[in-house]
Amino acid sequence: MSLTYESPGRAALHLARAASLAPSPHNSQPWFFAEEGHDHGFEVHTGGRQRMTVTDPGGREAVIACGAALFNVRIAVGRLGFRPAVDLLPEPGDSAFLARVGYAAHAPVAPDEALMARAMPWRHTHRGLFGPDPVADTLLDDLRDHARAEGAVLQVVDGPEKLRLLADLVRVAENVHRSDPVHRAELTRCVGPYGVPVEVCGHHPDRTLLAGRDYLGVALPSARRPRRWSPRTGTVAVLSTHCDGRQDWLRSGQALQRVLLYAAAHHVMAAFHTQPLELPVLRAELRTQVTGGRFPQVILRLGHATRTWSTPRRPPVEVLAREGVPAG
Ligand SMILES: Cc1cc2nc3c(=O)[nH]c(=O)nc-3n(C[C@H](O)[C@H](O)[C@H](O)COP(=O)(O)O)c2cc1C
Repeated sequence: MSLTYESPGRAALHLARAASLAPSPHNSQPWFFAEEGHDHGFEVHTGGRQRMTVTDPGGREAVIACGAALFNVRIAVGRLGFRPAVDLLPEPGDSAFLARVGYAAHAPVAPDEALMARAMPWRHTHRGLFGPDPVADTLLDDLRDHARAEGAVLQVVDGPEKLRLLADLVRVAENVHRSDPVHRAELTRCVGPYGVPVEVCGHHPDRTLLAGRDYLGVALPSARRPRRWSPRTGTVAVLSTHCDGRQDWLRSGQALQRVLLYAAAHHVMAAFHTQPLELPVLRAELRTQVTGGRFPQVILRLGHATRTWSTPRRPPVEVLAREGVPAG
């Protein structure tokens, strides 16, 4: 990392602002960024204040979140009029240094990129039931293509047996988390104005077919999944990759954000149900039974949200490293 400026440049602030709008597990914002000299490039690092050592000991979800932030940086560089030149894991000895983004040739913004850039500030995580209208098949096809373009697979899970299995795995994982005091304590620490605000947790976590995260500790650790499938569950989808290294997590994050932004641009939001991916035995079962051997990275429900809530972020100056002043 080569830092030479006391205060960050405007382009760097623009990129940090865009990057920070990415989703992250429990809004932990596990990243910091650095500007490389005047317009030389922008760095994405994993780190930051809040570590999810119980939920995410290997840092897989944190790297996925940073991959989502990286996708936003790519879109934001495009908005400045340049093609982004991305170098993943540029320093083999520094696994926290995830990507360097440079400014390549001048290029006009592609229509899809303009669409996604506009959706960036109003994409929000949904929780609870969706509106009754199904997600259009044509949009689902487009979302699959967007995931594939980033090297990931977005699989819609719609067969009743696989859906039931997935719902059971989410339920088992959620109940394991609820019964574990250490996990509960970590989740409780994430609730509040600088994590997941109380207002966004208004839905009872057991009302949806896929169990929700019990942020407020209001549900039973022995809850069962609802028997009836509600069309307001939305479309269930799993994002997966063929391998499971750091590069694949970064690719998953970029694919995730590309899918989320394109969906949001078409008025479709996503709810996350990643609990079984945090328990190795359940993740392995999902891999063999649902994703055909690919590594599941994120579990989503997609649907039309009747209402969304925004979640605050640390300001860009706090997440941009400066000489002698580390971010985070
Ligand atoms: C890898 C990953 C896993 C997540 N898992 C969950 C989850 O299990 N439950 C949930 O409600 N939100 C989950 N989220 C969403 C975050 O809580 C959300 O992104 C964060 O609170 C910021 O809010 P926003 O997405 O509305 O900007 C996850 C996000 C990421 C990137």
